[in-house]
Formats: sequence, structure tokens, C-alpha cells
Amino acid sequence: AVRTARVREIASELRELRGALLPILHAVQADLGHVDQVDVAVIADVLNLSVAEVHGVVTFYKDFRREPAGRTTLRICQAEACQAVGAEALGEHVKRRTGLSFGKTSVDGRLTLEEVFCLGNCALGPAVQVNGKLHGKVSPARLDAIVGEAR
Ligand code: FES
Repeated sequence: AVRTARVREIASELRELRGALLPILHAVQADLGHVDQVDVAVIADVLNLSVAEVHGVVTFYKDFRREPAGRTTLRICQAEACQAVGAEALGEHVKRRTGLSFGKTSVDGRLTLEEVFCLGNCALGPAVQVNGKLHGKVSPARLDAIVGEAR
């Protein structure tokens, strides 16, 4: 109920913005970590939209997390410059190691794996971000070490 009240507060504050839905969804995720199915109903109510409309937007944009993130969030750049220096292999490596695909969180709640498209670190690819901290020229072995430390 605390969550619902907070979502209603955020949505009400931003509802007058043009195209308010996206800013509201971003604000909810920033404040509460993810956009829950319960939040969708509250936002739909505040904006006078159907639940299906809001749900459609949440699932369309990859930016929105549908479940709480793990304690460690690992984001691997899969954009062009990093692809040219092995980002795809790095992604495959971590998927194999963790059994996760992009956008998923491990069942023990430890790790969330995400793909991103450019971290602004193109000269030092492959680039990854671990709990907000940027790492460059990351090899599979280094990635294992970084993730190990973050846990
Ligand atoms: Fe990977 Fe820019 S392409 S950081």
C-alpha cells in the first residue's frame, strides 16, 4: 500500500506533462526500482488510460524492469563499437556462466543481467557497467572477477 501511494503521488505530480506516461514510468522505476504490474493499474487510473495501454508501453520499451533487480546489476554494452571488439562473445560468456538471458534476474535475487546500447565508453570496449560503475576492455576472465567481487 505504501508503494501504491507513492506511485499515485508520482503519477499525479507528472500527469500534466505532455506525453506524461513515459516520464511517469521512468520516475516510478527510478524511485521504486521497477515498474510492477500493480503500478500499471495505478498509473492507468491516474491518467485515465486503460491498463492494457499502459501495459503495452511498459512492455514495448526495454528500459523498464518488470521485477525487482538483483543486488548486482550487470549491464553489457552490445552496441557497434563494442561488438567490433568482442562484446557479443562477452555476452554469450556471461549468459552461459549465469544461465540468464538479457533482462533476467537470477532466482536467488543476486544478479540482473542487462544489455545496453552504448555506455559512452566506446574507445575502451567491450564496456560493461556493474552497479553503475563503468569498466572498459573487459575480457571474459575479467568479467568473472568483477562480478565475483560485486557479489
Ligand atoms: Fe559500447 Fe559505446 S559502443 S560503449
